[in-house]
Amino acid sequence: MTTETSPRTRVLTGITTTGTPHLGNYVGAIRPTVQASRNSATQGFYFLADYHALIKCDEPARIQRSTLEIAASWIAAGLDPERVMFYRQSDIPEIPELTWFLTCVTGKGVLNRAHAYKASVDKNNAAGNDPDADVSAGLFMYPVLMGADILMFKAHKVPVGRDQIQHIEMARDMASSFNHLYGDHLVLPEAVIEESVALLPGLDGRKMSKSYDNTIPLFSSSAQLKKLIAGIVTDSRAPGKAKDTEGSALFQIYQAFASPEETAALAKAYADGIAWGDAKQVLFERIDREVAPMRAQYEELINNPAKVDALLLKGAAKARELATPFIKELRHAVGLRALASAGSDNVGTKQARAAIPSFKQYREQDGQFYFKLVDPQGKVLLQSLGFTSPKDAGLAIARLQQNTQLAITELGPQLVLGLEASMDLVMASMDSLVTDIAERAKLKG
Ligand code: TRP
Repeated sequence: MTTETSPRTRVLTGITTTGTPHLGNYVGAIRPTVQASRNSATQGFYFLADYHALIKCDEPARIQRSTLEIAASWIAAGLDPERVMFYRQSDIPEIPELTWFLTCVTGKGVLNRAHAYKASVDKNNAAGNDPDADVSAGLFMYPVLMGADILMFKAHKVPVGRDQIQHIEMARDMASSFNHLYGDHLVLPEAVIEESVALLPGLDGRKMSKSYDNTIPLFSSSAQLKKLIAGIVTDSRAPGKAKDTEGSALFQIYQAFASPEETAALAKAYADGIAWGDAKQVLFERIDREVAPMRAQYEELINNPAKVDALLLKGAAKARELATPFIKELRHAVGLRALASAGSDNVGTKQARAAIPSFKQYREQDGQFYFKLVDPQGKVLLQSLGFTSPKDAGLAIARLQQNTQLAITELGPQLVLGLEASMDLVMASMDSLVTDIAERAKLKG
């Protein structure tokens, strides 16, 4: 047995570059990933999903600006590009290439069921339009591009919002299909849902989201922050009247920033009838306390986009140290390879990767000697008829191991194919067995 030093768990997540980061993005994505990136047991991959942005946004200037703002926010919030892989998706040309490989192993029917695509179709159907009206092929392919993001870097864990779980499951399926066809190359990822991260409500009480136009930007001036907070909906209860924390957007936002003690104190103030104006002041001060120290660095980066470019390019170069050899491996696996390398088709092919079977020899009631070839789950791949001596049975096994194809032809009448086996499977399994025996022999010296 070889002992492997366990590699660090790889954690990967991306943010689509279509808008200005708001407090919801900060609480739900930026802050938790920055915290996670400090865990030395993990290796972080954080990227700007600008190819994904093209699916939702056809304003070039907005994509450019958003990329700058999100990158600057991540760094200002404490992400250390020296410590993690921090890059822009479109700086990694291996990602679109992998997207194509995955496209070819993904059922169209699977993509038909993707929530985002289905929502568009449902909306069209409800409106009596053509089901695919205004649906781009990009939207349809969204999960595949996302799968490539994840599988490119063999991520184990992918922290995402609930709405993205389905995409991670699809990425798993793509990886399984690919591995099944071409060998064990891709790592099956898992979604990580941060339960404690509440969805932040926006100014109007609905989920804070660009699409509702109810956001509070993460980085605005103190004065602007204060003004926006003043606009959070409340009920009309007068000062001195007890207020409900339940359903109060103001309270929920506060909770996302405050310690449990601070939260308890505000709850008490609500019960004691704090005036809404005062509660808003408390919220403003709490958020400003967290954001103010980051503002200077954010401004500095926003005003020096070339600096951010340089950081991202450096990150991409680092990421490509992994991506470039890996895509080479995958190209070879699928058959995009030097024509002269056709003979060396051993590593990573379907054949070499079939499970290693074993031969079982036994004697039956009839006094004859038999063997069968079984896979690790005990499924019979090949079954012999009776031999008169154990030596003859052993010889037949040896011949199968020496030259499977030839031995099968010659022993033909003595062999029966397992009920659930195919000749291809037998050949692939034998190939694994022979390779395994040879490798063991090599290890022994
Ligand atoms: N689809 C994600 C979102 O909108 C962003 C994203 C793109 C992503 N590629 C990813 C997230 C890979 C995690 C992993 O939130």
